[in-house]
Amino acid sequence: MSSLGINFLGVDFKNPLVTSSGCFGFGMEYKDYFDPNILGGIGIKGLTLEPRDGNYGTRIAETPSGMLNCVGLENPGIEYFKKVTLPLMKKEGINTNIIANINGSTIEDYIKIAKEVENIPEIKIIELNISCPNVKDGGMAFGANPEVAGRVTKEVRNVTTKPLVVKLSPNVTDIAGIAKIVEENGADAISLINTVLGMAIDIRSKKPLLGNTFGGLSGPAVKPIALRMVYQVYKAVKIPIIGMGGIASPEDALEFIMAGATLVSVGSVIFPNPLLPVEIIEGMEKYCKDNGIANISELIGIVHR
Ligand SMILES: Cc1cc2nc3c(=O)[nH]c(=O)nc-3n(C[C@H](O)[C@H](O)[C@H](O)COP(=O)(O)O)c2cc1C
Repeated sequence: MSSLGINFLGVDFKNPLVTSSGCFGFGMEYKDYFDPNILGGIGIKGLTLEPRDGNYGTRIAETPSGMLNCVGLENPGIEYFKKVTLPLMKKEGINTNIIANINGSTIEDYIKIAKEVENIPEIKIIELNISCPNVKDGGMAFGANPEVAGRVTKEVRNVTTKPLVVKLSPNVTDIAGIAKIVEENGADAISLINTVLGMAIDIRSKKPLLGNTFGGLSGPAVKPIALRMVYQVYKAVKIPIIGMGGIASPEDALEFIMAGATLVSVGSVIFPNPLLPVEIIEGMEKYCKDNGIANISELIGIVHR
């Protein structure tokens, strides 16, 4: 195995770098920049049962060291994904691991979409995004209520044999507590963090800038929060972690691994620097070589020892 090769939940990854859902489309969109197959895996845009247009109005705003988005899960829906997008991905030669990010407005939605994904052999891993608003709970995110987070994890666990990663929202007080609950309810791994709730105001119109009033903050601004949460969750659970939030360099990626992440995921910083994944993979390889690390797994959680 090369210095970066790693096994995650029984799936071989050529390196620990994956892309974050919503920041890398379905992989093919970046083919002009680099071969997406150099990635350990591709986290594809969040899928829902039905196609979604997403939110109206302004959906993106820049912030110092980051961005706000309220895209609102615009996606073609699971049927279109199966019939059109996935065959296109294959035609375009994408053969690295695919991580499907699934979303719903009710627990029933999550169960239905998980059953659909269960029957797609090309999907190696399911990532359950519990940052979505729960319409039966007044719009509060599934991941903000420990009881509901546990329940949705358990229900999805019951209908899938694929490795199940639960993606946590950072908009909670006790991230380690939520991580433990999803572990107890059958999660095979945890990914974190999703975006941090924020807002911006347009002082000319004197109105919220974003169409949805609030948006999710991502990018380097959130990295210290994400790193702290990966550190806390690593201490609290036994299952592996996919770490993300503001990763902008090989050094950032290594910090997440040292805090406890087995895989690391790049998101928003791909927008200003589409070659970032290549730089991170090369930088991690060089770090291992320069520091006599036979395999990067030696560094997972090393800061705790
Ligand atoms: C434009 C945009 C769209 C996103 N869409 C999704 C999504 O569909 N599902 C999901 O779980 N996370 C989504 N995210 C969150 C990212 O996957 C990631 O968790 C977050 O942005 C933190 O990482 P980053 O700071 O490296 O971007 C989205 C983020 C952005 C910026």
